[in-house]
Amino acid sequence: GEDSRLQAISEAIRVVPHFPKQGIMFQDITTLLLDPKAFKDTVDIFVDHYRDMDISVVAGVEARGFIFGSSIAIGIGAKFVPLCKPGKLPGEVISEKYVLEYGTDCLEMHVGAVEPCERVIIMDDLVATGGTLSAAIRLLERAGAEVVECACVIGLSDLKVRRKLNGKPLYILLEPR
Ligand code: PRP
Repeated sequence: GEDSRLQAISEAIRVVPHFPKQGIMFQDITTLLLDPKAFKDTVDIFVDHYRDMDISVVAGVEARGFIFGSSIAIGIGAKFVPLCKPGKLPGEVISEKYVLEYGTDCLEMHVGAVEPCERVIIMDDLVATGGTLSAAIRLLERAGAEVVECACVIGLSDLKVRRKLNGKPLYILLEPR
């Protein structure tokens, strides 16, 4: 059942203390990717969830949102749109800044990648403060898309986060601790 699949997915994710800096418990999904069964189960759970929701776009957040998002897009027959860090996309872009612990960062999307009123899900590996996904929601909504849900493999700070996502539902597989 799903519980045993989630258990195996959870066990396949390596937790690395003090990376990239002191005090951070880093959730390393690269070890999940080394386990073909657990990786496929991860993608399948999202594909089963989104299959009949009339989603035409999966938008993935650089970098690890690309890995899961593109697989899910193929699985549900949707297009995949990368949301990139600044300067990575060659065409005309719209961009949206967000606040980090120190300083700001930015996500960019190609103009024309999404048509107005398309139904979109936004995929990332992990949500912590929700700042990254909030910026992604704003970006898609400025393009006229309908953001149906945000999806993550790992959610680090449950209830606090759900409110920060501009009222959009958040679908999370694992909540460590
Ligand atoms: C991580 C993660 C999410 C983001 C979540 O990416 O992959 O994109 O942090 O954090 P938040 O909910 O507090 O915004 P990171 O910023 O480490 O960038 P990277 O993918 O380039 O490593």
